Amino acid sequence: MLAITYAAALYGIDGFLVTVECTAERNLPEFEIVGLPDAAVRESEKRIYTGAANCGFPIPEMAAAVNLAPADRKKEGTALELAILCALYKTCGIIPGSCDMENKCFIGEISFSGDVRSVRGVLGMTLAAIAAGKTEIFVPLANIKEASVAETEGVRIYGVPDIPTLIAHLNGEALMEPSCDDPFMDVASPLFGDDFSQVKGQYAAKRAMETAAAGGHNILLIGPPGSGKSMLAKRMATILPSMTREEALESTKIHSCAGMLSDETPYITTRVFRSPHHSLSIAALVGGGKMPSPGEISLAHNGVLFLDEFPEFQKNAMEALRQPIEDRQVTITRAAGRVTYPASFILVCAMNPCPCGYYGSKNEQHPCTCKTKQIHDYLSKISGPMLDRIDIQIEMPALNFAELSTVQPAEPSAEIRERVTAARDLARRRFREAGYKNADTLSNGMMQTDALRTFCALDETCTKIMEDVFSRLNLSARAYDRILRVARTLADLEFCKGGIPEENIIGGQIRKHHLLEAVQMRALDKKYFI
Ligand SMILES: Nc1ncnc2c1ncn2[C@@H]1O[C@H](COP(=O)(O)OP(=O)(O)O)[C@@H](O)[C@H]1O
Ligand SMILES: [Mg+2]
Repeated sequence: MLAITYAAALYGIDGFLVTVECTAERNLPEFEIVGLPDAAVRESEKRIYTGAANCGFPIPEMAAAVNLAPADRKKEGTALELAILCALYKTCGIIPGSCDMENKCFIGEISFSGDVRSVRGVLGMTLAAIAAGKTEIFVPLANIKEASVAETEGVRIYGVPDIPTLIAHLNGEALMEPSCDDPFMDVASPLFGDDFSQVKGQYAAKRAMETAAAGGHNILLIGPPGSGKSMLAKRMATILPSMTREEALESTKIHSCAGMLSDETPYITTRVFRSPHHSLSIAALVGGGKMPSPGEISLAHNGVLFLDEFPEFQKNAMEALRQPIEDRQVTITRAAGRVTYPASFILVCAMNPCPCGYYGSKNEQHPCTCKTKQIHDYLSKISGPMLDRIDIQIEMPALNFAELSTVQPAEPSAEIRERVTAARDLARRRFREAGYKNADTLSNGMMQTDALRTFCALDETCTKIMEDVFSRLNLSARAYDRILRVARTLADLEFCKGGIPEENIIGGQIRKHHLLEAVQMRALDKKYFI
């Protein structure tokens, strides 16, 4: 007898439907799976049979052959077990012939005791099952919240605790309740504990952070210990625009895929702040591993990646970051094939100016004790190509007592976020107007040569200023481009202030003071890195 059920597997962060075909003949105890299963799928046999026996619904002795289609796609992980079990039950009548399997998809791992265990990537797989027309999706109970994110009209999603509960449901003896959450109903304005208003002084650095947020520019904070670098970095996510539903869905899929969702955080609706330690492995940073999983850079997708103590990161880690920063995604190649994960984030880096931390400090209690060569060696740990991907570098001097002891709260994140959001909208309108297809995902920080020529054209006065700055600071061509990008964002921030007249959607001309401020955000080029 032939039985067909449906499962789902993962490819990158997205799922695809898997058809499970099962044939069985009585009296020949044998079991075989075909269709490119990996080691985990083969181990599934043990779990399926033991789990079934231990929960009181043993699979009768029979020769069973299971085919997983499409046969030419690699299927990893244990999520197929529930569907395989259902197919076996169908062939031997434990699930009755009258139960229609065509509209159902089963996702889940079986435990030895017959419980249905959580698996990674449930959201991506559920979305794929729905896209393939399945209207009843069975997922592990522990994953029900993330799966509910995929909820669509006409689709029922069930959280399955164990095998007996599922059998009772499919037999019509005791029906389970489908989940009825729409988690995104309450994508309310984020409630952050951390806020910009807690950061005293550091006006230049805050302005630079606002600019970075508004233009999607990567930023490097340089200052002595205790100047507030980590404090400020941590608050970057609070001034970014609220997430759109699409962004939230995508970020949730990535976290689902990494197995990082829990009952407390079943979905991602606020921008993520990731702060990996410099000792982290390359695979953990960019993604990979035997069972490929998204790394820190993908977990930071749509949010902030903070690299503290930047020079302490290994050379090959920085090397591995370069391409994803450029491409906004990362492709991991392994013997078994390639997967691509999204990785579009704002990079915030922090570092001391020298090994002791006090180079350039005006504080007499803390004179710098480093030798010139030590400072040079420390700074040269950051490769030129890496620095080339950071538009803004800003210095944060230590606060003096008067600044630290003020009780007046500074401007709150919500106000800054409004300006950031307006500037982002302006830039997007400009890209749309110019016919960029993916305008909604673009920001000023991503502008390359032709976009720079179009949107950052300088008038005569500004050209003269750039000429001056160029020769005085001995800038590279790349630094020149970065100044233009940042000046564009500064202009956008200013034009948004008074509301933009319709005819001025392009955002108006970059002016002298925009350029000069952008140069301020690069001055460290000269001071430290030459
Ligand atoms: N600008 C500031 N406003 C308020 N508190 C600050 C500021 N800078 C530093 N601090 C205090 O000093 C602590 C250490 O700051 P931190 O951000 O860790 O410094 P850094 O990362 O530059 O070494 C913070 O937790 C905060 O309590
Ligand atoms: Mg710090």
